[in-house]
Amino acid sequence: MITAKSTREIALMKVAAEAVMDVFDTLKAQLKNGITTLELDELAGEVMKKHDCVSGSKGYYGYPGYICISVNDTLIHGIPSSKIVLHDGDIVSLDVVAAYKGYYADATRTFPVGVITERAQRLIDVTKQSFFEAVKLIKPGVHLGDICNAIQEYNENHGYSLARDFTGHGIGKHMHEDPSIPNYGKKGTGPILEEGMCLAIEPMVLEGKKEVRILGDGWTVKSRDGKLTSHYENTVVVTKDGYEIITMREGEK
Ligand code: MF3
Ligand code: CO
Repeated sequence: MITAKSTREIALMKVAAEAVMDVFDTLKAQLKNGITTLELDELAGEVMKKHDCVSGSKGYYGYPGYICISVNDTLIHGIPSSKIVLHDGDIVSLDVVAAYKGYYADATRTFPVGVITERAQRLIDVTKQSFFEAVKLIKPGVHLGDICNAIQEYNENHGYSLARDFTGHGIGKHMHEDPSIPNYGKKGTGPILEEGMCLAIEPMVLEGKKEVRILGDGWTVKSRDGKLTSHYENTVVVTKDGYEIITMREGEK
């Protein structure tokens, strides 16, 4: 069941969103050659605490980190580790879920470390743009399948693939609520959007083939062909005549 959120509930989600955005700002400044993903994770935990928020990810089915940090061929759910060191030329995605008084916000950015190849930058740019191509369609009365289709079309038209087993999702009182939001789909299908619905839309894009593998830790999802991957996500509220992105600062794009 998809539940619309009240203005009061959305206000609480926006406090969580502020913590998520502060994690990006804080960690972005630390993405340098030599830093470990565990150090970044600890910093993320401190930032959330400063905002009176808790991590939505920590403890979720036993997940050990405050956030997910996924480097290069790791698509999603990279576990922060003292053994994972960032190097110039890497691309790193930070997937951050914060909760304030039981209300959640969820967003992901993929950042460069130092100087990256044009090829890597293009993957980051297309992934991000696919989110905006999809989100601009959002308003009450639109089928969710239109959103999913836009993500698929934009990425595939650029020669990229989309993971099949992982999806975006409704969000609010839980990190994951209905509906499930695949990164592929057909126009005119699926649930119809209504004012107050809150959606985490998150293209997970592979430079090569769509197949992934999960490491023995039970979490880390990598591209099977070892090629680069990118992830971009925001929490979006369906408004009376459109949408509001609550996890992105004005002028960020
Ligand atoms: N943030 C992820 C999502 O976008 C889920 C995190 S999985 C966890 O849905 F294990 F880290 F919690
Ligand atoms: Co999400």
